[in-house]
Amino acid sequence: MEQGRNIILCGFMGCGKTTVGKRVAARTGRRFVDMDEFITQQAGMSVSEIFARLGEADFRRREREACRELAGERDCVIATGGGALTFPENVEALAGSGPIVLLDVAPEVLLLRLAGDKTRPLLAGPDREEKFWSLYRTRLPLYRRAASVQVSIGRGVSPAAAAERVLTALKEAGREESAKNPMEPRQNSSQKTVDKRG
Ligand code: S3P
Repeated sequence: MEQGRNIILCGFMGCGKTTVGKRVAARTGRRFVDMDEFITQQAGMSVSEIFARLGEADFRRREREACRELAGERDCVIATGGGALTFPENVEALAGSGPIVLLDVAPEVLLLRLAGDKTRPLLAGPDREEKFWSLYRTRLPLYRRAASVQVSIGRGVSPAAAAERVLTALKEAGREESAKNPMEPRQNSSQKTVDKRG
């Protein structure tokens, strides 16, 4: 993939954006950035505290700012929060900086992983499963729309294997892209020559 481009991971809570993202970063020599961590460091509060004290709208505002700021970074693997790329303006901000990759994990697997989790305010309290399904159904089509690359990760796939799948899918997407635009590589190489001369 072109140097400087970010790789942006999206998907539902528990799909492995952080775990897989760290491995993709190590494999590609990029810096790993966790968007939630970026937000909590700036706020000096955990995600749960922001939701409880300031409300979800405040969290979404911080998330929007984080998307804009991180879109200005280069050579990063960015693990987004599960809600971030359900908002078109956040997608628009980040998509310019690199491909958005959806980690598509079966909902049954997500439910198992999220059982007993206390860090996700959107799933806190009673009716956890109902909340999960309602969010999952609304969000899956939005993730699919946001992502230029989709990777299915079945049950029992290790984080390392999932990271390899992401890399393979990115390579394939890159090949398809240059097949669709055969002039692009030539334009790029002539541009490089001009750059060197200048
Ligand atoms: C959220 C997902 C969380 C975090 C916040 C809201 C969401 O991130 O940003 O709790 O709206 O799905 P993870 O996907 O990393 O759990």
